[in-house]
Amino acid sequence: MDIKTDIKKVSVIGAGTMGSGIAQVCAAAGYQVSLYDSSPQSLEKALATIKKSLSRFVEKNKISSDEMASTLARIQIADSLAGAAAGADLVIEAVFEDLAVKKEIFAQLDTVAPEHALLASNTSSLPITAIAAATKRPEKVIGLHFMNPVPLMKGVEVIRARLSSDEAVATGIEFVKSLGKIPAEAVDYAGFIVSRVLDVMLNEAVFCVMDGNKPEEIDRAMKVCANFPMGPLELIDLAGADILLHVMECLQKEFGDKYRPAPLLAQMVRAGHLGRKTGRGFYEYK
Ligand SMILES: NC(=O)c1ccc[n+]([C@@H]2O[C@H](COP(=O)([O-])OP(=O)(O)OC[C@H]3O[C@@H](n4cnc5c(N)ncnc54)[C@H](O)[C@@H]3O)[C@@H](O)[C@H]2O)c1
Repeated sequence: MDIKTDIKKVSVIGAGTMGSGIAQVCAAAGYQVSLYDSSPQSLEKALATIKKSLSRFVEKNKISSDEMASTLARIQIADSLAGAAAGADLVIEAVFEDLAVKKEIFAQLDTVAPEHALLASNTSSLPITAIAAATKRPEKVIGLHFMNPVPLMKGVEVIRARLSSDEAVATGIEFVKSLGKIPAEAVDYAGFIVSRVLDVMLNEAVFCVMDGNKPEEIDRAMKVCANFPMGPLELIDLAGADILLHVMECLQKEFGDKYRPAPLLAQMVRAGHLGRKTGRGFYEYK
């Protein structure tokens, strides 16, 4: 069955940092959204985060309070994967960065999502082709790699896996545009374009800390000398040291030791110094 290019209902699986943002921008663009997470606490936190983010847009007069209310009304919480996927034209998965977990979810989605539904993963680094292989519809599987924080970041990588159809990629591109975002098409090699280029630089900044540079000096240097809007270590604290470590491990596995994660990064993850989400990374957060 052909993909339904006229998308009305979007199902978002995983309601963490990325899933909550994806649900928000889809609902804001007028789509009916069903949001599912295996953790009820994550769902509760996601709704609070979405409300807070929309309230900020209202305060800044970017949206009206009516628009905030109608956006919230379009988000339904589902209590099962099957419930979330029922009637969906597009499913976007944003669970933990773990290939086995994602493959399991895609295998289930293949049985519960409508036959016409396009299935997308928000993975930062895992091969979409491997995720698609868990389904019997690999031609309808693509990557939609949103950036953090989703409501503010314009770009989305649309990843063409080995077996993705032209129609699936074209539908993904049109969908991204319908959210008011800008698509960039990438091929399916570990890290795609953004993680591969950006995370290598972030990892290098961690090596600079190991060499004795102070985090605040590295961040200042990159902001004032290279016009970065945010320092690389500030960015690691925002995204999570665990996320960066995982991407670097994937890149190293795929392309070799040129992508070796900085030992300090691994040590920080072991210590639970993941950044903003744990209150401590390269900087401390209240
Ligand atoms: N954080 C970032 O900056 C960023 C940026 C781009 C892409 N990504 C990618 O997005 C994905 C999600 O990352 P995140 O930062 O939002 O993670 P997160 O840890 O904030 O959220 C993951 C959520 O998935 C849920 N989950 C885990 N297993 C599940 C299952 N079987 N069924 C349903 N829910 C399940 C968890 O309960 C959690 O709420 C990852 O693939 C990551 O690589 C992250």
